[in-house]
Amino acid sequence: MKLIRVTDYEEMSRKAAEIIAEQVKEKPESCLGLATGETPVGTYRELVHYRNEGKISFERVHTVNLDEYCGLSADDRQSYRYYMKTNFFDAIGIDPARTFLPDGMNTDVEAECSRYDRVIEGLGGIDLQLLGIGRNGHIGFNEPASYFSKGTHCVTLTESTIEANKRYFASAEEVPRKAYTMGIGTIMAAKKILLLASGREKADAVRASLQGEVTPEMPASILQFHRDAVLIADEEACSKLN
Ligand code: PGA
Repeated sequence: MKLIRVTDYEEMSRKAAEIIAEQVKEKPESCLGLATGETPVGTYRELVHYRNEGKISFERVHTVNLDEYCGLSADDRQSYRYYMKTNFFDAIGIDPARTFLPDGMNTDVEAECSRYDRVIEGLGGIDLQLLGIGRNGHIGFNEPASYFSKGTHCVTLTESTIEANKRYFASAEEVPRKAYTMGIGTIMAAKKILLLASGREKADAVRASLQGEVTPEMPASILQFHRDAVLIADEEACSKLN
């Protein structure tokens, strides 16, 4: 995994947006794998600027998101569909029919997982996958586990993730306990991977993922085996590197 060290969140966002814009310029019909959370908000903001300045168009792009909470509908303000709509999709004027996320309202787990895998396959796989990293090293909602998952599956969120994500909800009790997530196999099949990390609370996960052993107990560590994975991390996130 190649490391690009930047000073802060803003520089990380600009650099990530540059790489994504380059991808879309080179291949306007790219399939972009997208992420939610606090980390990519600045990247989306930069991309919206590019689009508004006429530097790039997302008209021919398809997007597939990493994950979605189970039990939250698209209108729910905490759902990742809602996040994508408000942070990116509406601002770039993309046709919603070109954007895909797991359907958190589908209670038929098997059907939903195979539907989502078929969606990604039907688009010809992912050209560029954007990722954040959890404090526990998760990517998507692939939590630390004893094995690496392959395709889309339903996970039970760990206490660490519930604790980290409760800031978006009225209380920790309201954070859904389950979520659909793209599998590690699908993420690893992306042609290019862009992992972003900002802030001191990510420093342990960054060190373990970049310099530790490759283990499903630290899911992002698998990216060491990807041939085109780039980590853009700011000074605080790099503060524990050897
Ligand atoms: P964050 O989440 O960007 O809100 O820190 C990252 C993640 O959990 O993947």
